[in-house]
Parts: sequence; structure tokens; C-alpha cells
Amino acid sequence: MTANSDARRIEELREAIRHHNYRYYVLDDPSITDAEYDRLMQELLRLEAQHPELVTPDSPTQRVGAAPSSQFGQVKHAVPMLSLSNAFSEQDVRDFDRRARERLDTAQPIEYTCEPKLDGLAVSLRYENGVFVQAATRGDGTTGEDVTANVRTIQSVPLRLAGEGWPRLLEVRGEVFMSHAGFARMNREAAERGEKTFVNPRNAAAGSLRQLDPAVSASRPLEIFFYGTGAHEGGRLPDRHGELLRQLREWGLRTNPEIRTVTGVEGCLEYHREMQQKRASLGYDIDGVVYKVDRYDLQRELGFVSRAPRWAVAHKFPAQEESTVLKGVDFQVGRTGALTPVARLEPVFVGGVTVSNATLHNMDEIERLGVKIGDTVIVRRAGDVIPEIVQVVEAKRPEDARDIVLPATCPVCGSDVVREEGEAAARCTGGLYCGAQRKESLKHFASRRAMDIEGLGDRLIELFIEKGYLRNAADIYRLHEHAAELQAFEGFGEKSVAKLLKAIDASRHTTLARFLYALGIRDVGEATAQTLARHFGSLRAIMDADEPALQEVPDVGPKVAARIADFFREEHNREVIDRLLAAGIEWEEGERAEAGPKPLEGRTFVLTGSLESMTRDEAKDRITALGGKVAGSVSKKTSYVVAGADPGSKLARAEELGVPVLDEQALLKLLEGRG
Ligand code: IVH
Repeated sequence: MTANSDARRIEELREAIRHHNYRYYVLDDPSITDAEYDRLMQELLRLEAQHPELVTPDSPTQRVGAAPSSQFGQVKHAVPMLSLSNAFSEQDVRDFDRRARERLDTAQPIEYTCEPKLDGLAVSLRYENGVFVQAATRGDGTTGEDVTANVRTIQSVPLRLAGEGWPRLLEVRGEVFMSHAGFARMNREAAERGEKTFVNPRNAAAGSLRQLDPAVSASRPLEIFFYGTGAHEGGRLPDRHGELLRQLREWGLRTNPEIRTVTGVEGCLEYHREMQQKRASLGYDIDGVVYKVDRYDLQRELGFVSRAPRWAVAHKFPAQEESTVLKGVDFQVGRTGALTPVARLEPVFVGGVTVSNATLHNMDEIERLGVKIGDTVIVRRAGDVIPEIVQVVEAKRPEDARDIVLPATCPVCGSDVVREEGEAAARCTGGLYCGAQRKESLKHFASRRAMDIEGLGDRLIELFIEKGYLRNAADIYRLHEHAAELQAFEGFGEKSVAKLLKAIDASRHTTLARFLYALGIRDVGEATAQTLARHFGSLRAIMDADEPALQEVPDVGPKVAARIADFFREEHNREVIDRLLAAGIEWEEGERAEAGPKPLEGRTFVLTGSLESMTRDEAKDRITALGGKVAGSVSKKTSYVVAGADPGSKLARAEELGVPVLDEQALLKLLEGRG
């Protein structure tokens, strides 16, 4: 091939690669595969290697390559990079809007462009004749650091602007950030290499951008969204902000897809509510939204106070992480005796509520965090997840900090506490002798998916235990003997007593599967209860089955078989069952257990992190009972990843593969047929 046709091909390839970058990063709508893209890039690299004289700085091959420097140069911003004033409440936003209208002397609603406020680092990029020439950090707003070589490595930054009509000189401003998936991947790779990991995406983005060696920046998954301009010469820009952002996007500068122009303060507040809902599913951190007066002539009229514009405000979300002091740890005992350490905290306002307790999950987690009583800790409360301690501020550890020790005996009943081999949880061995386990098993017995006794909730169960009316499940069916006393309780009249007793009566007619599940045998969830019922057909047969017979049931292994056999061997349990049957609990013996609809048929779930309302095993049982499958690892075939508190790498994997992620509420909706 001649040098001439190579030069033409080089230009063609650059054009094509720029076009595909635009489709991929800006439009989020690629039209070729990664492999095809790689082939174009390889061909360009090869041709440029043959013709080094044809290499230009704006060629897509020129992202990495600058040598590491010993320090960053300084860049003076031609137009200063300002900050925003903050609003923390709806009232603050209304005040902001009222002041703006007063200054503009108008009663008309103002049009605002609303944008997510990204939690990253502000940068200013300079394009001359459409070619990227410089990037700087915000610094003190007047002078920043020269991060040109690093920003050049960000794939979504065009090295040459697309389209036409851009000013000869154009400064564009935006936020560099890291997505959750990118952050998780980077930390996983760092951990595999035995390197230090970053605490959060913001720190990771900052650390990656301020790398003296651009090759390191290049290996980090940095992204950018543009939200405005700085200096510009030789050309006209639109006279509204919303229009400007659309124009930037046409020039290949990636803007946030959530941006919207609204009318009046009510539109702003509505946007804030929507984004707060969306926050957890965006895939990157935002700490609020920004409202900007849309018309630039009005912006100029409003001007600035000190270093912040009067035409924009950041409406912050409640912080999801705050620091506080760990005052003590209590151990809560669950239905199966598992001891959960609960942190007692100096109350702190986080995620929109005051938090004074947080879960520490189990002893392994305490060890992993290295937390002691007296420590200053970072508490996180995101969305509806239970608050948890995510980090210890070791520098603030007081001298008298104390270790957290697992109690040797149950804090409720005094029985021994044991920790079985290979299990994270420590357990009270008191069984139903333990008041806490008794209370939790009664709650479980009455719960909707078990005996379904409407109205018999936590509060009443506690009260009835305290009054001595309830010691075990069979006592529920003798509550009518106390009807007169019940009616005397505060807030509990004749009607509500009658209603409760009616619900108790109604629960007598049930199914064998529900009854088995209600008994609360460890590791026997709804699905196992159903298969047992179907396999044996009668309660007697299950009670008399030995372990080998139980293991013939699909999904029942030696461990579960032993738990079932142990349960029915226990004299006390047999007695309670006899009393329950005597109280008139009935189902059709030999009845095929509920065939039930299978709304989750064909869907595969992967669970990660801990759920609040059920254990992972229970979640698994409930999903399988509805025909769904639960898998151990995430693949393209996964229908949903369910992320509880403190999710593992499966969440990041889901985000990488674009698998939908459900939180606990969403899972419950699906399980209850509301989703
Ligand atoms: S506009 C004069 N828009 O927030 C207006 N800032 O406190 C200047 N930020 O330094 C900024 N998302 O790092 C603007 N959509 C957005 C933003 C945004 C994040 C950051 C930016 C800036 C800080 C202002």
C-alpha cells in the first residue's frame, strides 16, 4: 500500500473509532461488538507504527503514553471554578427560589435545569479548535493542577470534539467519578495483587486522577459527566443551560441522562424526590441534586455572592455515612438461638433518621472490622437497609477501648453458648427454655406464611408471654380462656379481642406443609416443609421417619435429616404437637401439599449480603417454593441479584453484567406477589 492510501486509511479508522466511542460512551448505544472495535484499534496502531510521522495528539491511540512526572504543573483557570451553596431541606429550596424571583422581580415560576450532583472531582477541560489540549483539577477554584495526561486516559473523554460549530476555544467542566461496578472491580483486582484497597468510589477516583504515572490512571475505571462550560471564544453557545448540555452531548461530551428542565420550585422538589428513589440503582454515588436557573440572561442578572452563584443551589440528600462512638454491644437471641451482636451507639443522624443501634452481624464481622467498645466508628444507613458499622477510625481509639467478647452463656436464659464448627453464628443451647427463642418461635408460628394468625404480632406476643398466657404455641389456642382479661388491656376492646380469637380459630384449618413450617424446625423452610408433606403425606409418618428415610426426600441431606429427627425425638416438642392437635388443628391427611402457583418459574436468583426479615436460607426456600431457582454465582443467565446489607462481590459482578439488582423490599414484593 502506498503512504498516501495509508494516510487515508488512518483518517478513516480514526473517524470510525471516534464515532464508536461516541456511540458507546455518550449515547450508551454501541453499534459494533468489542471485538470489532478492538480490530479497528489494532489496525490503527499498526499503521501508526509504520508511519510515526502521521501520529497526531488527538488520535484515539494517544490516550496513554505520557511519561510519569514528579509533580503536577499549575493551571490558572481563566474563569474561576466556583462552588455551590447547599440546601438541606425543602424550605431551604423554597427560600432559594423566592430570593431568586425577588431579585428578578417576577411572580412567574422560574425554569430550572435539574442535574444529579455527582460525588467525584471537578475538572475543567480545554479544547482548542476542537482538539483536547489540557485538563485541570478545581484546586482552590482559581488555580488547579495540570492533570492533562491522566484525563486523556479516560475513555469517555473525546480527544477531538464531534460534529461542528464548536467555539475555537472551549472550556468544559464536569465531574470525574468511578461507578460502583468499576470501584468493586478495581478493589477486587487490588486485593488479588495484595495491594491496598480504597474505602469508597470517591477516594478511588481522587487517588486515580492524581496519579503521577498516567499509566496507572489508565488502568483505573474513571468516568466523566460534563455539566457546564468555562471560558469560550470564537463561536456562540446556546442561551439556555438545558440547551447547552444538549449541545455538549452532540459534540461528544458525555452528559448525565438524568438531567431534566422543570418549571418552578415544585418541579425541583419533585425531581429531588425522584432522584432520591433512583439513587440506589444509578450505579454511581450522588450526594444530592443541583438546580440551575435555565436562562443564562437571568443567571447573569442574578450574579454571585462571594464564591457561589445566586442562580444555582445544591439540594443535598441526607448523608448515608456518619461517625459516632460505639458505647457497647448487646447480644440479641433469635428464633434458632443465634446470637447477633448489636452495636449501641451515641445517637447520630444518618440517612435521614437518628440511629442508635447498628448490626455487627456476627463475631467474624467484629474481628474483620477490628472494632472495640469506645471506638469512633463510621455508621452507614443506605435506603431501607439496616444501619451497620462499616469502618473503625483507629486514630481516634481511646486508651480504655475494650474488646468485644462473646458471652459464654445466653444473656436471656443463661444456657451455654456454643459456636458450631464452620458456622459464623454462635447459639444459645437453651432451645424453647430460652425466653428469647420462645418469643421468636411464637412470632414465627403465628406469621403469615406459617399459621397466618392475623393480629397476633410482636407486641401482643410479648405482652401475653409477660402475663403468663403464652409459653408455647399450643397456648395460643387457649387464649379464649383469658378473653375477659384481654378486654381489660389498654387499647384492646371487645371487638379487637373477638377479632383476634376469630383469627386464631380460623388458623386451625391449615395444611400439613404450613404446620410443619410453623413448628420452626431449624433448616426446614417453606420449600422443605412442602416436599416433606408431599413425600410422607402425614404428620405421623414424618414424626416416625428415621434419618435414612428422611434423606430419601429430595433436597434433604444428612444435616437437615438429623435436625428433623432430633426435633421430633425431643419429648417437649412431641407434647406441644399433641396439644396442638388436641386443640383442633387439622388438615387433610394424605392431601397433596399445596401445588400452588409457580410465579417465579424460570427465574434464577443469586443472593448476596444479609437480609433483615429472613435468613438467606429462608429466602432460598421461599424463592424455590414459588418455582424460582437460587444459584451460587452470577452469570448472564441470572435473572436477579438480591443484595442485602454488606453485599459481596456478587453485586459488583451483577452491575458489570447488567443483571437487575433487587433490594430486600423488592424481593418481598415479588415473594408476596406484589411485584
Ligand atoms: S455546577 C457554579 N453541577 O459540586 C456552579 N457542580 O459545590 C459550579 N458537582 O465543584 C458547579 N455535580 O465538583 C455543578 N451537576 C453539577 C455537579 C456539580 C457535582 C460538584 C462540583 C463542584 C461542586 C460545587
